[in-house]
Amino acid sequence: MAKIFSGMGTSHIPAVGAAIDHGKQGEDYWQDYFKGLEPARTWHAQNRPDVVIIVYNDHASAFSLEQISTFTIGVSNKFLPADEGYGPRKVPVVQGHPALAWHLVESLVLDEFDMAISNNMPVDHGLTVPLSVAYDTPEEWPVKVIPLCVNVIQYPQPTAKRCHDLGVAIRKAIHSYGEDINVSIWGTGGLSHQLQGERAGVINAEFDTVFMDNLVADPIANTKLTHADFIREAGSEGIEMIMWNIMRGAMAPKVEELYRFYHVPVSNTAYGLQILKDSE
Ligand code: DHB
Ligand code: FE
Repeated sequence: MAKIFSGMGTSHIPAVGAAIDHGKQGEDYWQDYFKGLEPARTWHAQNRPDVVIIVYNDHASAFSLEQISTFTIGVSNKFLPADEGYGPRKVPVVQGHPALAWHLVESLVLDEFDMAISNNMPVDHGLTVPLSVAYDTPEEWPVKVIPLCVNVIQYPQPTAKRCHDLGVAIRKAIHSYGEDINVSIWGTGGLSHQLQGERAGVINAEFDTVFMDNLVADPIANTKLTHADFIREAGSEGIEMIMWNIMRGAMAPKVEELYRFYHVPVSNTAYGLQILKDSE
């Protein structure tokens, strides 16, 4: 039987990918940030699952506004880094896990989560930056990846509660997969940020901290946040935080927080990272 190995929340800020790709990790602006990642990177080097489900959003790279699916699972055996305007990031091709991905699709649809299925999608910074956060610059990514893409960019996005409930169903699906493998799940995006309009640059450390505290001790509180709550408190792109709820729903009711790192600003965004492990 497959089991949940760990969970992680991390922002997926593209400037982090650019700093890594261009060898800027030691520069003044970045030093403190990358120092804060070190314990997470050490943990990931010593604790390696077989597969990671990366919950992320596409930023109009694979999908345009012509095709919007609320939840999409990538079932192919590889995913190429997307060209986001400056050519694709020079990072390894992401290796998929079609057997587990199809099992997830079947189990989730039979549990009434009507997932869209993608046989071919390039993956943008939403997915590749978290891999760089965890693993830096390897020749090959050390884990297989199942991309789970969530629509957070076009209203109506799924609710915070629906995302948590999807996570609970993902946990059930993993536990009914026959092979003895370890599966981690990462929720990406956020934390508070707004990239456009009069409030561009919004950062709300208090809201972000309460959200991360609740992910550990009271995850149901985070399912009660409305879209308006996210926009008001965390800026127009803060809605990406609902993807952390999918990760949390897939963890046990009680979790232990192994590491937390919060750093502002990164680019004009709040960066957060949290590693969780089931307590029971
Ligand atoms: C930026 C883009 C993102 O998708 C995100 O989640 C955070 C920051 C940016 O362009 O700075
Ligand atoms: Fe984003």
